[in-house]
Amino acid sequence: MAILGIETSCDETAAALVTDEGEILANVVASQAELHARFGGVVPEVASRRHLELVTPVVSRALTEADATLDEIGAVAVTTHPGLIGALLVGVSAAKALAWARRLPLHPVNHLHGHVASLYLQPTDLQPPFTCLLASGGHTMLLDVQSRGGYRMLGTTLDDAAGEAFDKGARLLGLGYPGGKEIDALAKQGDPAAYDFPVAKVGGLDFSFSGLKTALLYRVRELDPGELARRRADLAASYQRAIVRALVERVRATGAERVAVVGGVAANSELRAALPEATLAPLPLCTDNAAMIASAARYTDPVPYPEYLSLDARATA
Ligand code: KG4
Ligand code: ZN
Repeated sequence: MAILGIETSCDETAAALVTDEGEILANVVASQAELHARFGGVVPEVASRRHLELVTPVVSRALTEADATLDEIGAVAVTTHPGLIGALLVGVSAAKALAWARRLPLHPVNHLHGHVASLYLQPTDLQPPFTCLLASGGHTMLLDVQSRGGYRMLGTTLDDAAGEAFDKGARLLGLGYPGGKEIDALAKQGDPAAYDFPVAKVGGLDFSFSGLKTALLYRVRELDPGELARRRADLAASYQRAIVRALVERVRATGAERVAVVGGVAANSELRAALPEATLAPLPLCTDNAAMIASAARYTDPVPYPEYLSLDARATA
């Protein structure tokens, strides 16, 4: 029997089949990035409507890719929080309907626990304890992970998330959305020492990225369009260097020996190279997907049939 995972918290409509042992049988992600690109960011109501169109075909495709039918599904798992409320509701409604029709149990999953659980899938199969850097478009956190069922937060961002800093920086540089991948690629052609961007000095194990974004804004404003075009790669490389330094410094400050990195920003090539001893989520599992949601469900209690019909989504963590 497999777990069917469904994820619709932001702009990826995703479904996956995962076994109890953490083997991925199918992992389908339909990205809406192109749909939102012309707005320079995710438009919540546009995302909700697109999820509605995509969720059923994406679940069907996951079943087809796994060469399975609903008869082989033992439980359904779905992201219930945090995320865009309208987007979450589409996934939760689809999951409830599927589970109810088949009289299956339903696992409500915290999206952040899902990112951490990307490390519990085969072949990574990481065993706690470890310290986890979770860096995505919505969150940047350091987590103390003692068991697969949860974690304790050690630090979080006081303002923007690291992925948000990438996305807003890309926008200032006139690059596309989502910005992390674009900056990552352009930075390879630039000089990371060309500009000296600040790493925020905040106490404890917290992060701050809003000052960095403002510093980039001032640099960009000083340049006329021709100069900006010539310096764009240097700006991207220097800006990325500052974000990566801030993340790596905080990881080192924990003193942890066993470190893991998850979330969309974990796909960043400079960050991956800067933490060679860390366990890194595999690239396809860094950005949002449903395999990680099904994986997290392996370590949470399901809500039995039909109690979950009253289950709700929630925007906050
Ligand atoms: O985990 P994720 O898919 O969604 C959230 O839960 O937020 O993360 C998306 C974020 C975006 O901000 C995107 O720009 C960033 O991950 N990202 C990257 C890279 N690929 C995606 N940031 C830096 N370098 C990358 N290669
Ligand atoms: Zn995410």
